[in-house]
Amino acid sequence: MYLHGTSKINSKGHLEIGGCDVTDLAEQFGTPLYIVDEELVRQRAREFVEAFRGTGLRHQVAYASKAFCVMAMCRIAEEEGMSLDVVSDGELYTALQAGFPVERIHFHGNNKTAEEIVMALDAGIGCFVVDNFIELDLLNTLAAEKGKMVNILLRITPGVEAHTHDYISTGQQDSKFGFDLGNGSAFRAVETAIAQSNLKLLGVHSHIGSQIFEVEGFRMAVEKVTAFAVEIRNKLDYTFTVLNLGGGFGIRYVEGDSPLPVAHYVQAIADAVIATCSGAQFPLPEIWIEPGRSIVGDAGTTLYTIGTSKDIPGVRKYIAVDGGMTDNPRPALYESRYEAVVANRANDQVTELVSVAGKCCESGDMLIWDLKLPAVNSGDLLAVFCTGAYNYAMASNYNRIRRPAVVFVRDGQADLVVARETYHNIVGNDIIPARLQKQAVAK
Ligand code: LLP
Repeated sequence: MYLHGTSKINSKGHLEIGGCDVTDLAEQFGTPLYIVDEELVRQRAREFVEAFRGTGLRHQVAYASKAFCVMAMCRIAEEEGMSLDVVSDGELYTALQAGFPVERIHFHGNNKTAEEIVMALDAGIGCFVVDNFIELDLLNTLAAEKGKMVNILLRITPGVEAHTHDYISTGQQDSKFGFDLGNGSAFRAVETAIAQSNLKLLGVHSHIGSQIFEVEGFRMAVEKVTAFAVEIRNKLDYTFTVLNLGGGFGIRYVEGDSPLPVAHYVQAIADAVIATCSGAQFPLPEIWIEPGRSIVGDAGTTLYTIGTSKDIPGVRKYIAVDGGMTDNPRPALYESRYEAVVANRANDQVTELVSVAGKCCESGDMLIWDLKLPAVNSGDLLAVFCTGAYNYAMASNYNRIRRPAVVFVRDGQADLVVARETYHNIVGNDIIPARLQKQAVAK
């Protein structure tokens, strides 16, 4: 059994995270429950920040909040000295409500609305990552109306394809994101941007994919964006001061996943930047990155109560938990794999091969296929590891299931950071038009 961060099995044979026995957490907060190992989140953040400090490069490590965006997480990102990448008004609102320093907020997105842009301009965020020509024009117009000068990066697609699942590759040419480097669109975007009255072009951004286990893709991306920076300097006499290399650093979900230590990715990026820039006599730019999954992914554990089971002799045994694709859509969307233990009997001999089903009314609602477990009973607790990223963030109310609570655990203390949804939350936005109301029908 692979245990992440502060997780361990205590003398009662129970899983313990952040010094909290998860059976107590289940009792106090109910299940399903997202449990976040705060110490591990902070450790991951520090690994990035310290690795960058070691390189001597000016840098910003922006937490890609899309992975898990709640106010308490924004506080941690701030305390750990990170910047914050947001991609919607909702994420921006969350950051602002948490009091995140606006100058460290970067706004991404391939279809920012005028309302979102105005909201970010009014807040005075640090940088817009502009994705396309329409946005470039809209942002300049809105900034001019407000008399503001706005920092921007241009998102470019460098034509580097990271070795990962197709759905989460964004750096290749056939992508909805950014200005293409190969077909001249990125060059035209720079020409357009520097001609705008109210935009200050700092540099370019590239994101080559997610869950990346090697450094080659990042090296290639650095080479491409630096070559582009040099071309811009030579042809347009304009010098970028920031290169943003995005996120995508891999984590260990299951045996066989072999991410590199954070410092290796950072060092490889730094080495490539230093080598390419000094080769071209280009002044060393500030390097920004945007890790999401690698900050929060392995710090999350989802705790479920096991309910029913169905044994089909000679075929398979299903066990069902009190959550599923509503709190973790990743297996259904990406065929993602997870490891899990029976959290209240973690030392018991593993004797069975089971598949873990969710409770949604859909056959595709499976969390884990072929998991080795001890014989389980109704009421046992199942802890699924590595659910910190893109789980709560992508949770839904499908089947009108209420979204679970989230707790941060640290040094034996558990703090609720997101309350479990209520039935009121479920029907709170529903409206029955007058003509459909019961008394109207009765008349
Ligand atoms: N920066 C940009 C511009 C991005 O598009 C992303 C992720 C990140 C940073 C953070 O990437 P990370 O370090 O977390 O890999 N829902 C999918 C992941 C989609 C990622 C989208 N962009 C999943 O559950 O695997």
